[in-house]
Amino acid sequence: MTERQDVPAEPPVDCSLCPRLVAYRLENAEKHPDWFNGAVPSFGDPQASILVVGLAPGVSGANKTGRPFTGDWAGDLLYATLDKFGLSSGAYDARPDDGLALHDAMITNAVRCVPPANKPVGAEINTCRPFLQARIDALPRLKVLLCLGKIAHDSTVRGLGLKLKDHPFGHESEYTLPNGLTLLSSYHCSRYNTNTRRLTPEMFESVFARARALSA
Ligand code: URA
Repeated sequence: MTERQDVPAEPPVDCSLCPRLVAYRLENAEKHPDWFNGAVPSFGDPQASILVVGLAPGVSGANKTGRPFTGDWAGDLLYATLDKFGLSSGAYDARPDDGLALHDAMITNAVRCVPPANKPVGAEINTCRPFLQARIDALPRLKVLLCLGKIAHDSTVRGLGLKLKDHPFGHESEYTLPNGLTLLSSYHCSRYNTNTRRLTPEMFESVFARARALSA
C-alpha cells in the first residue's frame, strides 16, 4: 500500500481543521500549558501487522501525554493486553518517556484531537478520516484492523469505502475485506465498559488472540 499523495498519515500537531476541537485544545492549553494539547500522533511499529484503532484522546490522558491511550483509564487494559500477547517491550508507566515500545502493532485514533465530553461529532469524525485512511495505507505489512468501539469501526469501514450495512459493528465481529485485510472489532476498553463488565479482560484477550492468529 502506498501513502496517499495529498494527506499525511499524521496530521500536524496544531491541526486546524475542526473549529470546535481547536477551541477545546486552546482552552485546555490555557489551563494546562504543560500538557501536549495537540493532535495525538499514532504510536507503534511502522512495520505493524495489527493496527489498533481507538476513538479519540482522553482529556487528561492521551491529550496530556501526547501518546494514544497513555494516562487514560482505557490504556491500562490495552497496554496490559498488548504486553500479554508479546506486542510490546518495556513497562507501560502512563508516561510517553516510559520506554515502552510496540512490536508488530500500532495504535491510532479515529479522531486525533480530544473532543469535549469524549464525544466527537459526525463532522469531526469525517474530517479526521483521511488521516486514518492514510495511516492504514502507509503500513506495508498490515493484516488486521482491530477497532475499539463502534465509532472506530464505522469510521474505518467508511474510510475503506465499504458499506456499514454490510459490515455492522459487534464485539468480535470479523470481516475479510476485498483488500485482503481483516477487520476485527471489540467493545471499547473504556472505564464504563470495563466497570460494567460489558467488556472483561478475558473478552478483550479473546479478540487479541484472534488478531494474533490472523496476523501470524
Ligand atoms: N485514549 C485514546 O487515545 N483513545 C481512546 O479511544 C481512549 C482513550
